[in-house]
Amino acid sequence: MVNWLKDAVFYEIYPQSFQDSNGDGIGDIDGITSRLDYIKELGFNALWINPCYDSPFKDAGYDVRNYKKVASRYGSNEDLYRLFGEAHKRGIHVLLDLVPGHTSEEHPWFVESGRQERNAYSDRYVWADYAWAMTGRPYIAGECERDGIYMLNFFKSQPALNYGFGEIDEDWQMPADCPAAIETREAMKDVMRFWMDRGCDGFRVDMADSLVKNDTKDKAFTQKIWQDVRQMFDKDYPECVLISEWDNPSQSIPGGFHSDFTLDNPGSGYRTLFRDYRDDPDNKGSNPAILTKDHSFFRKDAGGNILRFLDKFLPHYEAVKGKGYISLISGNHDTPRLRRTLDPDELKVAYGFLFTMPGVPFMYYGDEIGMRYIDNLPTKEGGYSRTGTRTPMQWDHSRNMGFSTAFPEDLYLPLDPSDDAPCVEEQLGKEDSLLETVRSLIALRHSQADLQADGTFEPVYAKADCPLFLYRRGSLICGVNPSSSAITVKASEVKDGFGDQLLYSIGSADISGDDLTLGAQSFVVLA
Ligand code: NOJ
Repeated sequence: MVNWLKDAVFYEIYPQSFQDSNGDGIGDIDGITSRLDYIKELGFNALWINPCYDSPFKDAGYDVRNYKKVASRYGSNEDLYRLFGEAHKRGIHVLLDLVPGHTSEEHPWFVESGRQERNAYSDRYVWADYAWAMTGRPYIAGECERDGIYMLNFFKSQPALNYGFGEIDEDWQMPADCPAAIETREAMKDVMRFWMDRGCDGFRVDMADSLVKNDTKDKAFTQKIWQDVRQMFDKDYPECVLISEWDNPSQSIPGGFHSDFTLDNPGSGYRTLFRDYRDDPDNKGSNPAILTKDHSFFRKDAGGNILRFLDKFLPHYEAVKGKGYISLISGNHDTPRLRRTLDPDELKVAYGFLFTMPGVPFMYYGDEIGMRYIDNLPTKEGGYSRTGTRTPMQWDHSRNMGFSTAFPEDLYLPLDPSDDAPCVEEQLGKEDSLLETVRSLIALRHSQADLQADGTFEPVYAKADCPLFLYRRGSLICGVNPSSSAITVKASEVKDGFGDQLLYSIGSADISGDDLTLGAQSFVVLA
């Protein structure tokens, strides 16, 4: 396992909205570089930057037009190389976002692929060679001169790259080991090499499970591709890492990934922690913009039941223990922000949990100050309901909250309009602020090997009808009480008891004799 990952704490940056350095209203690479000290001082030692490549931005950059070129609105490749260097000087590793499943329809590969005359890129994408072949599938017709139709991987602007099919049920489908599929894989490895040769430390991999179509239930063909990529990493880039957007560690880790994200999918255990409002019977669809009730574990009034998370998490944790990690996230550019339904006190307890779980934690920019989800924004660059999560970082009380010197109407997205929009300046150095809580939690994690990625994890008090949750990390016990009442537990009720030294606490905690009392909305670590 890559050594630095064991104590990595990631910060995700949506480059559009983090820091604008040239006054054009949109964030850029130099802006990120100028904020590296802030990131380091909070204790983060790794970054994930969303796609910053040349793109028509129909899906915020997940529609790549040139994998090897930084989008001019963000600066130049040289700016990014400088960012790598400055980050490394500060002990920060940098992951870029790899989008291997699709390109933009404006990518030169696709433009070539759409020509009627056969050429080197004809089979780079999934095409059916007659227009009526893919009825019932996500396909596009009527756009190219080629006598055929192509499959989509996501939006209309994102044609699926061809990695072949697992099960073949129609004659236009190519097998996963056909030369064209291998060429696609090698082209993507070439992209990875390009950036790693220039200082990038690996990739967050978009829709990593989406490559081979009609794959087996356990995604065996897609796994094979990533195992091949992992071999390249182990041989030529042993200090670089691959983190998958897959949400199934039991598949992705044997597939070759170092870590896999938990995601906010319906039915996921992760969702029950922070955003448990889409499964509400009153909310018929799965649109996160529709907010009805919130039953999230970390809501003080939700009567939290941690088993809904553990029942999903533990089988994966046990399956990948010692082989790879699970990455719990505060959120990302696709999820509503936690602050949407959790107040700052609820967030502190939630973050106590996030930063003391095994695996590799990720925090989304702005979550450290409790930035809000902004409702009802018009969709931007294919953001839809995700747009409210992508607004500019709130630094201080200067113009545009320190994000940009542009006219407010020229900002990529509007700032949080509330009078009490949280900002870094207000929370810095203020002992009980969310920001300082995040800083102290990350410092705690760095100081205790037991709390890091490899430290063992075992729930020792977890019940369906009691919101108190205690878990052992190595020789330490962590405890969360998200509810609005104090809860007392006896040592005899906790598997193997608990220590009597309070190492860290948010809210009140009391150990007297055999009793441990966690006050309302508290988080503790006991030695
Ligand atoms: C997942 C990304 O996180 C999301 O933002 C994007 O729209 C899709 N994949 C398509 O690339």
